[in-house]
Amino acid sequence: MPAMSRIALTLGLTLGAAVAAPNSIPAPTAAEHMTLALLGDYGWTGWQPLPLEFCKNVLPKLQSAGVTVPKEIVNDCDPGDRLAIGNATIEERRTAKYIEKVCLKKDCAAFVSVGDNFYDSGVAFHSEGINRFYEGWANMYVGKAFEGKRWYQAIGNHDVVTGKAGVDFQTRIAPLMDDRWYFGPENKPYYSYDLKGSDWTATFAVVDSDCFVNSYQKPDSVYNTDYVIECHKDKQTQVEFLRKAFAESDATWKILQIHHGFLSSSTNYTELAPLIDIVRENNGVVVNGHDHCMAHYESEGTNFVLTGGAGYAQAGDCNNGVPLGPFTKWLGASADQAANGFVTLDISSKELLFEYYARDMKMKGADYYPVANDMMPSYNFTVTKHATKGLHN
Ligand SMILES: *[C@@H]1O[C@H](CO)[C@@H](O)[C@H](O)[C@H]1NC(C)=O
Ligand SMILES: *[C@@H]1O[C@H](CO)[C@@H](O)[C@H](O)[C@H]1NC(C)=O
Ligand SMILES: *[C@@H]1O[C@H](CO)[C@@H](O)[C@H](O)[C@H]1NC(C)=O
Repeated sequence: MPAMSRIALTLGLTLGAAVAAPNSIPAPTAAEHMTLALLGDYGWTGWQPLPLEFCKNVLPKLQSAGVTVPKEIVNDCDPGDRLAIGNATIEERRTAKYIEKVCLKKDCAAFVSVGDNFYDSGVAFHSEGINRFYEGWANMYVGKAFEGKRWYQAIGNHDVVTGKAGVDFQTRIAPLMDDRWYFGPENKPYYSYDLKGSDWTATFAVVDSDCFVNSYQKPDSVYNTDYVIECHKDKQTQVEFLRKAFAESDATWKILQIHHGFLSSSTNYTELAPLIDIVRENNGVVVNGHDHCMAHYESEGTNFVLTGGAGYAQAGDCNNGVPLGPFTKWLGASADQAANGFVTLDISSKELLFEYYARDMKMKGADYYPVANDMMPSYNFTVTKHATKGLHN
């Protein structure tokens, strides 16, 4: 981290000390209008796949000998991710610089993440985890646009492979390592927060969707860790948490921030229905990631913002740019390539404006996702219907 940003962070901490918890940057405030950056699926840099010799020859031998192999070791042999790491690292870095440029122009007040913060198997409180935290995140998102800005974090499937130790590191240790990294006042994987302008409020609720996915309960799933087994049994707690957070809110806007997509061009996580029902009852909006592309879906009046393009973009996740049905309003993908990028959200009392920024992707002389002027959004839409007021009024 450059010395300048360290000074800015220290300043932020000192100024915020009266209103915020120790080691945290205060929530942003706005007059009439606030811009947020929404992004996800980014944290590749620093990941080292395990040696091919180990994955191909030793791992099967250990497994057939009945040795219990930790999930993160199995996952760190993933052949698809091994292929991806070269491009993924370049794409994450270039997209970070791109986000910086757009956010300087738009003055992003905070960053809203939908998870998958560290590939391939999350990070835990050990030397490798600490190094990855700096390399893949703290020293990645640097520059004026990122300085002293809070990141409202969420947990994705790659973050749960190391189980409770990994989730604990991200929710409890990481906020003490960098003032920007935020997991709510109680350092839990689910939390809510209000952002306020002079004449509007937006209530965001963060839920860990990993706890809802049925396939992660299969014993051979790399996601079937102590944390996921436990939080699946207890998933009603998160449903009730969301119900309460929205019911007690009189906000103009209500937004659910989760990792997996209920609606998708690759896999619909229909298990998320209890959460989506609550969003519908409240006239809310869903922001998610998991699919490595950007898209806008709409179904039964509910808008879904997919913002999974900040790391390794994959065209297949957006069905190679081909809509699967009228629920698809926009896909940031062509036949061969999905766009890297992120979404900005401009909040006022009148509307939520979502702008999709797709990066002009050039590598080795080829323009493999051409965007004529990538300082302008490739797509936008607005939500004007306010959220339903809290039931207790
Ligand atoms: C997801 O659900 C929508 C709406 O029901 C459907 O049209 C679409 O084909 C589904 N996506 C996939 C990948 O099956
Ligand atoms: C990496 O990017 C190049 C484009 O420069 C592309 O040709 C190649 O297929 C990509 N590899 C992977 C594994 O995505
Ligand atoms: C949003 O997109 C429409 C085209 O669909 C364009 O006419 C309009 O200028 C865009 N608005 C903003 C604020 O970017």
